Amino acid sequence: MSAASGGSGLPACPYGLCDGSGFVEHEALRTATPCQCRPARIARARTRSLTSVIPRRYRGVSFDRAPVIDMPRAQIAVVRRYVRDISASLDAGRGLWLFGDVGTGKTTLAMLVSQSALEVGRSVAIYSLPRLLAEIRTTFDGSSERSYTALLDRLTEVDLLHVDDVGAERSSPWVLEQLYAIVNARYEEERSMIITTNLEREALCEQITERTVSRLEEMCEVLPLFGGDARRVTYGAPTGP
Ligand SMILES: Nc1ncnc2c1ncn2[C@@H]1O[C@H](COP(=O)(O)OP(=O)(O)OP(=O)(O)O)[C@@H](O)[C@H]1O
Ligand SMILES: [Mg+2]
Ligand SMILES: [Zn+2]
Repeated sequence: MSAASGGSGLPACPYGLCDGSGFVEHEALRTATPCQCRPARIARARTRSLTSVIPRRYRGVSFDRAPVIDMPRAQIAVVRRYVRDISASLDAGRGLWLFGDVGTGKTTLAMLVSQSALEVGRSVAIYSLPRLLAEIRTTFDGSSERSYTALLDRLTEVDLLHVDDVGAERSSPWVLEQLYAIVNARYEEERSMIITTNLEREALCEQITERTVSRLEEMCEVLPLFGGDARRVTYGAPTGP
């Protein structure tokens, strides 16, 4: 049996005091007071609201198997070194910046890093940049300023922020300001980021501003990945024209 309590979907109270809601009801007084379990519930809810799920395609990715085993050795060595003591890498605020051609394994390697962090119990937020920005936009739709700052806080607090496909979306000044705010906050707190992008530095500066790129550069080790699009190289098929 899981820890879920009778049908409510809420984890049972570890102290046996509340019904899983985080509040103890006092029927006679018709009041409720916060339960001892409430701080832990709040902490869990905070990280749960960030996306930390490895997408199905990349689940179970490993150094010992395809496709990683077929990737360039120098780049794999860097990722291996990063992952070997993932906790130390995260504590030091080190990051990785994977850039290069389409279909060369950037997202695969980034997911390998995120997966390793999750395996040792570190908090990770995984977003494509368009999704992350959409998430931020929703906090503006008809709700309070508070939920926006709360999201920004969580994105700053998480041990590893993994942003895929940076520069993939056409940016408005508002979007760029949000991205800058996130990157700058993590930069100041010395927290790790891992990003993937198809763009060279100059194009990236045009897309996401030089201030943001400059911070990412200092935070991250740059890992170039070039070559043919592995998505198009189907097994045994001719690769040339
Ligand atoms: N070097 C490689 N050898 C074999 N297969 C690979 C290699 N690199 C990537 N793949 C496979 O190609 C597909 C694309 O990989 P991935 O999503 O990591 O690429 P990407 O570099 O992030 O591409 P994009 O720039 O389009 O986001 C995946 O199915 C992956 O398993
Ligand atoms: Mg990718
Ligand atoms: Zn309780």
